[in-house]
Amino acid sequence: MLSKNKGRLQNKNSYILGGLGLIGSSISKTFINNGSNLVILDNNKKNYEIFLKKNNLKKKDIKFEKFDCTKLDKIELNLKKIIKKNDYPDVFINASYPFTKNWGKNNFKDIKLSYFTNEINAQLNSSIWISHIIARTMLKAKIQGSVIQISSIYGNNAQDLSIYQGTKMKESLTYPVIKGAINNFTKQLASFYGNQNIRFNNIIAGGLEGPVSGEFKKQSNRFKDNYLNKVLIKRFAKPEDIAFAALFLSSDESSYITGSDLYVDGGWSAV
Ligand SMILES: NC(=O)c1ccc[n+]([C@@H]2O[C@H](COP(=O)([O-])OP(=O)(O)OC[C@H]3O[C@@H](n4cnc5c(N)ncnc54)[C@H](O)[C@@H]3O)[C@@H](O)[C@H]2O)c1
Repeated sequence: MLSKNKGRLQNKNSYILGGLGLIGSSISKTFINNGSNLVILDNNKKNYEIFLKKNNLKKKDIKFEKFDCTKLDKIELNLKKIIKKNDYPDVFINASYPFTKNWGKNNFKDIKLSYFTNEINAQLNSSIWISHIIARTMLKAKIQGSVIQISSIYGNNAQDLSIYQGTKMKESLTYPVIKGAINNFTKQLASFYGNQNIRFNNIIAGGLEGPVSGEFKKQSNRFKDNYLNKVLIKRFAKPEDIAFAALFLSSDESSYITGSDLYVDGGWSAV
């Protein structure tokens, strides 16, 4: 049973975009357990009902707003409406993964220009524009907020292709472009808003066990062995590993941290 009565995020309004996904739902649960008022933004309402049931929660415990982040020209207006209804966010986390139907064909051999630009629009441009609008909103409302991107080791490093050897998985031309740009825009926002005490940070997540998004329902054993061979702590990341990092970066305990990359990758990037 989740409890909303105590915790490190009391009196904070947290918005979690993609708050019903593998990582997002763990953040949502952790934030509710830490006393946050929560608004989940996601385009999948069915998963909201499932999340409530699984965690023995009522609709009044967590607000849900259906939001499609890929509708770029509606982002500003839709966020404005949602914020008017639910109050200003103190914390905004982007844990969405809005890939499109050709995501699996973004490897160097199969990619077409349209596949590339579609993903850039859906995944990168949405993320950039949303953080920009949220930052401006926090500034206007004089909120000393925290904005967090759930990013990836492949934003700061190239993919090590040896982990795909003997598997059907392929490299991505596009993913490192998206995550790299997100990581650096976070720093640019931190630079612009630092003197207003609005903070921006990336969580550099290592791989989790689960589906290969847009391609396979699960990772093959060969991939898992290859991947784990490279991780210093010999396991995949768990959703709660990412959620606890998000909790720290959202709380006042991290009030002097901005423009940073918090690595939650079991040491993958250290060697
Ligand atoms: N899973 C991993 O191994 C891993 C590792 C490193 C980084 N990441 C990053 O973490 C983030 C979350 O990944 P995940 O594995 O939890 O993904 P997921 O697919 O499990 O969850 C993504 C969430 O985003 C929502 N979403 C999708 N399209 C949307 C749209 N158009 N508008 C609004 N919401 C939308 C989905 O409904 C879902 O709730 C991604 O940015 C991903 O790149 C994941």
